[in-house]
Amino acid sequence: MSAVTSASSPEFVILRELLEHEPAFVSGSRLAEKLGVSRVAVWHQMEKLRAQGFGFKAVRSRGYRLVRRPAALHSALVAAHLGARARSIRLFCLPEVDSTNDEAARLLAAGRSAPFVVLARRQTRGRGRLGRAWHSADNGNLYASFAFRPRLAPGRMQTFTLWMGVNVCELVANFCRATPGLKWPNDLLFDGRKAGGMLTEARIDADQIRDLVFGLGLNVNSPANAWPGELARRAISLAEHVGEPLDLNRFTAALIGRVLLAYERFVDGDYLENFADLWHRYDVLRGRPVTLLEGDRRHSGTALGVDDEGALLLRDERGRSHRFRAGEVTLEKGS
Ligand code: BTN
Repeated sequence: MSAVTSASSPEFVILRELLEHEPAFVSGSRLAEKLGVSRVAVWHQMEKLRAQGFGFKAVRSRGYRLVRRPAALHSALVAAHLGARARSIRLFCLPEVDSTNDEAARLLAAGRSAPFVVLARRQTRGRGRLGRAWHSADNGNLYASFAFRPRLAPGRMQTFTLWMGVNVCELVANFCRATPGLKWPNDLLFDGRKAGGMLTEARIDADQIRDLVFGLGLNVNSPANAWPGELARRAISLAEHVGEPLDLNRFTAALIGRVLLAYERFVDGDYLENFADLWHRYDVLRGRPVTLLEGDRRHSGTALGVDDEGALLLRDERGRSHRFRAGEVTLEKGS
């Protein structure tokens, strides 16, 4: 798997042509013309792709058709699914990295132009909120970090993560016909079990976000028996929930497209029109008794949803409302 995928690489061009014309065949001469190479050179490229897990049906006088694709993350295949949108974002696809968030931060610090996304099949030091570890085995799950240079006020970061959460839910709902829930501020759930988490990190200059990394860990295809220890009870994958594996590369491309659009709407500010309503659609806490831990202070009450700034609203037993910008929420037992 190459680290960076360009929308002009031979793999991208071939896969894009084949996907675009599915289920029809694409002639060798068309591929040769698109690539500006001989038909023999095309054949060599196809052999390279075969070695990476692709299968082609080749029929004399008709050309090639895609009949098998790798299940694991494949950068050129993700880019081919993205199509023309692959030109608006750079993909860094790695077999292994410490943390995609850390890699994205390093690339930003080295001056890489944004937006870009870092994807990895496996992380050796995947991180979650509050310094927790994020289990990141090479098991068909997604570890992705999107990097932007937004020039926004730092106060908007909280809403950013929540807004992205809503967008990821909408994408999952469209893609798998199963609707996840959101637990403020950054958990994606199915049946009370965690299917994904988000970690937004930013470098801030005096009054502006200099750059921002939106990290998403999504349990896409891991089998039920793949979780170690405690996680077996608390975690779930989309595949487990819907009962069949997802096409990880197509899903990843759809996710990238969605995150880019969501980012544009966020920067334009027009997301505010329906942000709170959308959050409420997926909110698993609203109307339920919860406890919020804020440092070592506990606050109990009924969750009322979020406000336009992404703060959690709680009504205490005396009927007073409170807003919280940070904290760890647990649902009261039996609620
Ligand atoms: C959480 O629920 O606490 C957030 C989990 C975020 C995990 C993702 S996986 C991709 C990216 N890289 C990391 O090290 N963390 C985020």
